[in-house]
Amino acid sequence: MAEPVLHDGEDLSNAVRTRLAAVQGAGQRTWTPSQAVVRSAEGVWLTTVEGRRLIDFASGVLVTNLGHGHPGFASRLARYCAGLPRNSYNLVTEIEVSASERLVASLAAVNRNAQKALWAASGSEAVQKAMWVALARRPDRPIIAATRHGFHGKKGLAADVTGATSKNPNVRFISFPMEEAHDEAFYQAELDRLAAEHAGRIALLITEPYLGAAGSYHPPISYHQMLARWCREHDIAFIFDEVQSCFGRTGRMYACETYGVEPDLVVLGKGVANGVPAAVTVGRADLIDALTWGEASDTFSAHPEACAAVCATLDVFEEERIVAHVQEVAPQVRAGLEQLVARYAFVRAVRGEGLVYGVELADADAARACVLEAYRGAAGMGVHFLGPLAGKVLRVSPPLTIQPNEIDQAFALLTKAWDRIAD
Ligand SMILES: Cc1ncc(COP(=O)(O)O)c(C=O)c1O
Repeated sequence: MAEPVLHDGEDLSNAVRTRLAAVQGAGQRTWTPSQAVVRSAEGVWLTTVEGRRLIDFASGVLVTNLGHGHPGFASRLARYCAGLPRNSYNLVTEIEVSASERLVASLAAVNRNAQKALWAASGSEAVQKAMWVALARRPDRPIIAATRHGFHGKKGLAADVTGATSKNPNVRFISFPMEEAHDEAFYQAELDRLAAEHAGRIALLITEPYLGAAGSYHPPISYHQMLARWCREHDIAFIFDEVQSCFGRTGRMYACETYGVEPDLVVLGKGVANGVPAAVTVGRADLIDALTWGEASDTFSAHPEACAAVCATLDVFEEERIVAHVQEVAPQVRAGLEQLVARYAFVRAVRGEGLVYGVELADADAARACVLEAYRGAAGMGVHFLGPLAGKVLRVSPPLTIQPNEIDQAFALLTKAWDRIAD
């Protein structure tokens, strides 16, 4: 059994952590140094069982994009769900139709390939379904191209295209711009070599708009446009994994809009239902229709509550102009992060866009200390992070509804906390 993570002076939290470790395997949860035990949550604020208040600087893992307990979201969700059956397996509800129609219409405003939806219960399953349809459309093409160091999930084909090596003999990785300074010709040559080596045998190319889990690497727009062009030239299905970047994160509703591409399939997850488990692939009808009855069905996909939550999320995005709000507050968040780089020797770099950033620290020890000190905070308040990405990168992805005064509060708390570990 993994030992529970305990913190001095947190008797109530420690009791919960100890009970948890007795009945759950550690594999269930991604490790974070804080292991915050939360009693309640409202807006961007989490309240621990000790009554300390933490600003949520991660939105779970880019999930609760409208914040916690958003009243407009909650009331709409309740209204949409009233009287609905508790499953979707052998029946159809209007809410499933509405959610599919609204997602297709919303994405079609920026991507003409948004024609049909295919639901899933998690991001990795939606990625897998996107890959299934692309492979089913061209059974004569077994080869799968993927950009290196991506994260698409831990299950099935999604796991096969995650990282830099694959147990699937049909997967071929290509480079994604990270620290190195290659010009576009380098990536184009790599694509051309791949196309020549597997002429007429590549079914799909899957990529992330930016590398999230690998430590926040955001490529030049021209990179994705080059991938899109190459896919079009070779009739390869272009799959854009927007599981974490969809619904406003990059400062546009969809990341494909930010990067100026119209992928054949766009995978949506995490924030798409503001915390209710839901994921969905939206894309070309001829691809989605490559599977017939049952070939992509499962128990929970298109659950009425998930579909209702997508509709409620879309309502709030429209009514409260969430994307415009992201554009307004993003410069303040970026400026705050850049001040941290200037102030602390252990904060090395900031990368990101919209309301999704990676803060690179000197090493894994510094990253761990930063998460813990932020959690300890000051005067009964703190800032809540995920465990570091790629060993030493802090993800900054607050709810999109965060207000300017809350951003100021977060940076004031971070400065007080990190001054304690500065030389
Ligand atoms: C880009 C991306 N794709 C896919 C996934 C997998 O989603 P899930 O954990 O819901 O299976 C994630 C999760 O972090 C992700 O960030």
